[in-house]
Amino acid sequence: MRLEVAIARKAFTNAAGERQDVLADFNFALGAGEVGVFVGPSGCGKSTMLKIVAGLDYDYQGHVAGPAGARIGMVFQEPRLLPWRSVDDNIRLAAPKVDDEKLSELFAVLELTAHRNHFPAELSLGLARRVALARAFAIQPDLLILDEPLASLDASLAARLRDQITTLVDGRSVTTLLVTHDVDDAARLGNRLFLLSPRPSRVLAELPIRTPRSARGEAEIAAIKADIARRINGDRTDRDAS
Ligand SMILES: Nc1ncnc2c1ncn2[C@@H]1O[C@H](COP(=O)(O)OP(=O)(O)O)[C@@H](O)[C@H]1O
Ligand SMILES: [Mg+2]
Repeated sequence: MRLEVAIARKAFTNAAGERQDVLADFNFALGAGEVGVFVGPSGCGKSTMLKIVAGLDYDYQGHVAGPAGARIGMVFQEPRLLPWRSVDDNIRLAAPKVDDEKLSELFAVLELTAHRNHFPAELSLGLARRVALARAFAIQPDLLILDEPLASLDASLAARLRDQITTLVDGRSVTTLLVTHDVDDAARLGNRLFLLSPRPSRVLAELPIRTPRSARGEAEIAAIKADIARRINGDRTDRDAS
């Protein structure tokens, strides 16, 4: 599905009772099957934006256009699993129509097969994250929203999970939004990168990456990362100069 987002303004009331703008003229579009990666400073409004796109927050000015009835898979920053249900049940409750073969395949890709009967309290953060991902993919989403899926994992685990996400996204046509702090992840996963300003956040720069993920070599990844750094620092230099 194609997604068009135009959030004119989103504000929250803080503890002192003041309205604070979090998003202002936050605009972007994603083509069907594209992976849009959002890179921005902590607290700039990334999770707020994802919740608006997911249809979980209607209290904003602007609009989000995607096909009506689109299936949306969302992975929140916290895995949000049902603690009294097994891994298997957590997924079947969210996706009652999932067929057994598809589910086994999903568990295999995410290396969860041995954990199907475990309960959330028995899982490490990395495992719980993978269960949340399995749950999002099990519904066969048209739109997939991943809020910092690789944060707080050690580097090798994060790299494995990044490869698993790549396998899952490449295997189907799902329009994906992914938030990360890590420019390396952005360069490896995205088709379209969005660099965000501090709060109130908007898209400062957009970088399309035309080479398919599987064909990106290390030299190209390094060049993309350098481009991101140049744009982020270039913005800072402009500001300092003025
Ligand atoms: N429900 C809320 N009520 C009031 N302020 C909020 C709420 N949710 C988020 N905020 C504030 O909005 C800003 C953006 O938050 P968030 O979208 O979580 O940032 P990010 O995900 O980019 O780190 C922060 O200053 C945060 O404190
Ligand atoms: Mg966040």
